[in-house]
Amino acid sequence: MRIRTLTLIAAMATTLPAIAMADALDDAIEARQGYYQVVKHNAGLLFGMAKGAVDYDAATATAHAENLKTLAMMNTGSMWPAGSDKAAKPGKTRALPVIWETFPAILEKQTAFVTASTTLAENAGGGLDALRANIGALGASCKGCHDTYRAKDF
Ligand code: HEC
Repeated sequence: MRIRTLTLIAAMATTLPAIAMADALDDAIEARQGYYQVVKHNAGLLFGMAKGAVDYDAATATAHAENLKTLAMMNTGSMWPAGSDKAAKPGKTRALPVIWETFPAILEKQTAFVTASTTLAENAGGGLDALRANIGALGASCKGCHDTYRAKDF
Protein backbone atom coordinates (compact mmCIF):
# COMPACT_ATOMS: atom_id res chain seq x y z
CA MET A 1 0.00 0.00 0.00
CA ARG A 2 2.71 2.34 1.06
CA ILE A 3 4.77 1.55 -2.03
CA ARG A 4 1.78 2.13 -4.29
CA THR A 5 1.15 5.55 -2.76
CA LEU A 6 4.77 6.50 -3.25
CA THR A 7 4.67 5.35 -6.87
CA LEU A 8 1.57 7.44 -7.41
CA ILE A 9 3.20 10.48 -5.85
CA ALA A 10 6.29 9.98 -8.00
CA ALA A 11 4.10 9.72 -11.12
CA MET A 12 2.25 12.86 -10.11
CA ALA A 13 5.45 14.74 -9.50
CA THR A 14 6.68 14.09 -13.03
CA THR A 15 3.42 15.21 -14.66
CA LEU A 16 2.91 18.21 -12.37
CA PRO A 17 4.97 20.80 -14.27
CA ALA A 18 2.99 20.23 -17.49
CA ILE A 19 -0.33 20.43 -15.63
CA ALA A 20 0.79 23.52 -13.74
CA MET A 21 1.64 25.27 -17.05
CA ALA A 22 -1.76 24.52 -18.61
CA ASP A 23 -3.49 25.54 -15.40
CA ALA A 24 -1.61 28.81 -15.22
CA LEU A 25 -2.88 29.80 -18.69
CA ASP A 26 -6.44 28.70 -17.90
CA ASP A 27 -6.31 30.47 -14.54
CA ALA A 28 -5.19 33.69 -16.22
CA ILE A 29 -8.04 33.45 -18.76
CA GLU A 30 -10.57 32.83 -15.98
CA ALA A 31 -9.16 35.71 -13.95
CA ARG A 32 -9.45 38.25 -16.75
CA GLN A 33 -12.95 37.06 -17.68
CA GLY A 34 -13.91 37.41 -14.01
CA TYR A 35 -12.37 40.87 -14.03
CA TYR A 36 -14.53 41.87 -17.00
CA GLN A 37 -17.63 40.45 -15.29
CA VAL A 38 -16.94 42.83 -12.39
CA VAL A 39 -16.42 45.67 -14.91
CA LYS A 40 -19.73 44.76 -16.58
CA HIS A 41 -21.56 44.63 -13.24
CA ASN A 42 -20.46 48.15 -12.31
CA ALA A 43 -20.91 49.63 -15.79
CA GLY A 44 -24.29 47.91 -16.23
CA LEU A 45 -25.75 49.63 -13.20
CA LEU A 46 -24.61 53.02 -14.51
CA PHE A 47 -25.96 52.30 -18.01
CA GLY A 48 -29.23 51.29 -16.33
CA MET A 49 -29.43 54.59 -14.42
CA ALA A 50 -28.64 56.59 -17.57
CA LYS A 51 -31.44 54.80 -19.44
CA GLY A 52 -33.88 55.28 -16.56
CA ALA A 53 -34.20 51.53 -15.96
CA VAL A 54 -32.59 51.94 -12.51
CA ASP A 55 -33.43 54.86 -10.18
CA TYR A 56 -30.69 57.46 -10.12
CA ASP A 57 -28.87 57.79 -6.82
CA ALA A 58 -25.85 60.09 -6.60
CA ALA A 59 -23.92 58.11 -3.98
CA THR A 60 -24.45 54.77 -5.73
CA ALA A 61 -23.54 56.26 -9.10
CA THR A 62 -20.34 57.70 -7.68
CA ALA A 63 -19.44 54.43 -5.94
CA HIS A 64 -19.82 52.39 -9.12
CA ALA A 65 -17.95 54.91 -11.26
CA GLU A 66 -15.14 54.91 -8.66
CA ASN A 67 -15.08 51.10 -8.84
CA LEU A 68 -14.70 51.30 -12.61
CA LYS A 69 -11.86 53.79 -12.27
CA THR A 70 -10.11 51.45 -9.80
CA LEU A 71 -10.65 48.48 -12.12
CA ALA A 72 -9.39 50.45 -15.12
CA MET A 73 -6.22 51.40 -13.25
CA MET A 74 -5.57 47.89 -11.94
CA ASN A 75 -2.42 46.23 -13.25
CA THR A 76 -3.79 43.16 -15.06
CA GLY A 77 -0.54 42.26 -16.83
CA SER A 78 -0.32 38.80 -15.22
CA MET A 79 -3.75 37.92 -16.66
CA TRP A 80 -2.44 38.11 -20.23
CA PRO A 81 0.34 35.49 -20.51
CA ALA A 82 1.66 34.63 -23.98
CA GLY A 83 -0.12 31.53 -25.32
CA SER A 84 -3.50 32.42 -23.81
CA ASP A 85 -5.06 33.81 -27.00
CA LYS A 86 -8.05 32.42 -28.90
CA ALA A 87 -5.88 30.64 -31.50
CA ALA A 88 -3.98 28.76 -28.76
CA LYS A 89 -7.02 28.23 -26.52
CA PRO A 90 -10.04 27.91 -28.83
CA GLY A 91 -13.36 27.69 -27.02
CA LYS A 92 -11.94 29.22 -23.85
CA THR A 93 -11.22 32.82 -24.69
CA ARG A 94 -12.19 35.59 -27.09
CA ALA A 95 -8.86 37.42 -26.72
CA LEU A 96 -7.47 37.78 -30.24
CA PRO A 97 -3.79 37.03 -31.02
CA VAL A 98 -3.41 40.62 -32.30
CA ILE A 99 -3.24 41.70 -28.63
CA TRP A 100 0.19 40.05 -28.31
CA GLU A 101 1.30 40.65 -31.92
CA THR A 102 0.89 44.42 -31.67
CA PHE A 103 1.54 44.89 -27.95
CA PRO A 104 1.65 47.54 -26.43
CA ALA A 105 -0.92 49.05 -28.83
CA ILE A 106 -3.84 47.72 -26.71
CA LEU A 107 -2.69 49.90 -23.79
CA GLU A 108 -4.05 52.94 -25.68
CA LYS A 109 -7.50 51.38 -25.35
CA GLN A 110 -6.91 50.77 -21.67
CA THR A 111 -5.93 54.45 -21.31
CA ALA A 112 -9.22 55.46 -22.94
CA PHE A 113 -11.02 53.31 -20.31
CA VAL A 114 -9.03 55.00 -17.50
CA THR A 115 -9.84 58.48 -18.88
CA ALA A 116 -13.54 57.77 -19.38
CA SER A 117 -14.00 56.17 -15.94
CA THR A 118 -12.04 58.96 -14.21
CA THR A 119 -14.25 61.64 -15.81
CA LEU A 120 -17.34 59.63 -14.97
CA ALA A 121 -16.24 59.21 -11.33
CA GLU A 122 -15.90 63.01 -11.09
CA ASN A 123 -19.34 63.67 -12.62
CA ALA A 124 -21.63 60.72 -11.94
CA GLY A 125 -22.73 62.13 -8.57
CA GLY A 126 -23.67 65.51 -10.04
CA GLY A 127 -27.15 64.52 -11.18
CA LEU A 128 -28.70 62.34 -13.85
CA ASP A 129 -27.84 64.79 -16.64
CA ALA A 130 -24.18 64.78 -15.63
CA LEU A 131 -24.17 60.98 -15.59
CA ARG A 132 -25.79 60.88 -19.02
CA ALA A 133 -23.34 63.40 -20.44
CA ASN A 134 -20.37 61.24 -19.48
CA ILE A 135 -21.55 57.66 -19.86
CA GLY A 136 -21.23 57.64 -23.66
CA ALA A 137 -17.45 57.94 -23.47
CA LEU A 138 -17.35 54.97 -21.11
CA GLY A 139 -19.36 52.78 -23.49
CA ALA A 140 -17.17 53.93 -26.37
CA SER A 141 -14.05 52.89 -24.45
CA CYS A 142 -15.41 49.34 -24.04
CA LYS A 143 -16.42 49.10 -27.68
CA GLY A 144 -13.19 50.70 -28.86
CA CYS A 145 -11.18 47.84 -27.39
CA HIS A 146 -13.62 45.02 -28.17
CA ASP A 147 -13.86 45.96 -31.86
CA THR A 148 -10.17 45.28 -32.38
CA TYR A 149 -9.10 42.88 -29.64
CA ARG A 150 -12.09 40.69 -28.75
CA ALA A 151 -13.59 38.07 -31.04
CA LYS A 152 -17.38 37.75 -31.33
CA ASP A 153 -17.25 34.08 -30.36
CA PHE A 154 -15.14 31.90 -28.11
C1 HEC B 1 -8.27 47.32 -23.30
C2 HEC B 1 -9.29 46.47 -23.86
C3 HEC B 1 -10.64 46.33 -23.22
C4 HEC B 1 -11.41 47.30 -22.59
C5 HEC B 1 -11.09 48.77 -22.37
C6 HEC B 1 -12.63 46.64 -22.18
N1 HEC B 1 -12.60 45.32 -22.54
FE1 HEC B 1 -14.04 43.94 -22.18
N2 HEC B 1 -12.83 42.47 -22.92
C7 HEC B 1 -11.63 42.67 -23.56
C8 HEC B 1 -11.09 41.40 -24.01
C9 HEC B 1 -9.80 41.18 -24.78
C10 HEC B 1 -12.02 40.42 -23.62
C11 HEC B 1 -11.94 38.90 -23.86
C12 HEC B 1 -11.29 38.22 -22.65
C13 HEC B 1 -11.20 36.71 -22.82
O1 HEC B 1 -12.17 36.08 -23.34
O2 HEC B 1 -10.18 36.14 -22.42
C14 HEC B 1 -13.09 41.14 -22.93
C15 HEC B 1 -14.20 40.51 -22.37
C16 HEC B 1 -15.28 41.18 -21.80
C17 HEC B 1 -16.46 40.53 -21.28
C18 HEC B 1 -16.73 39.02 -21.26
C19 HEC B 1 -16.08 38.37 -20.05
C20 HEC B 1 -16.35 36.86 -20.01
O3 HEC B 1 -16.86 36.37 -18.98
O4 HEC B 1 -16.04 36.17 -21.00
C21 HEC B 1 -17.29 41.53 -20.82
C22 HEC B 1 -18.66 41.35 -20.17
C23 HEC B 1 -16.60 42.79 -21.04
N3 HEC B 1 -15.39 42.54 -21.64
C24 HEC B 1 -17.13 44.01 -20.71
C25 HEC B 1 -16.45 45.22 -20.83
C26 HEC B 1 -17.01 46.51 -20.46
C27 HEC B 1 -18.41 46.75 -19.93
C28 HEC B 1 -16.02 47.43 -20.68
C29 HEC B 1 -16.05 48.92 -20.48
C30 HEC B 1 -16.62 49.46 -19.29
C31 HEC B 1 -14.86 46.70 -21.20
N4 HEC B 1 -15.17 45.37 -21.28
C32 HEC B 1 -13.65 47.29 -21.54
C33 HEC B 1 -11.00 43.88 -23.74
C34 HEC B 1 -11.40 45.08 -23.20
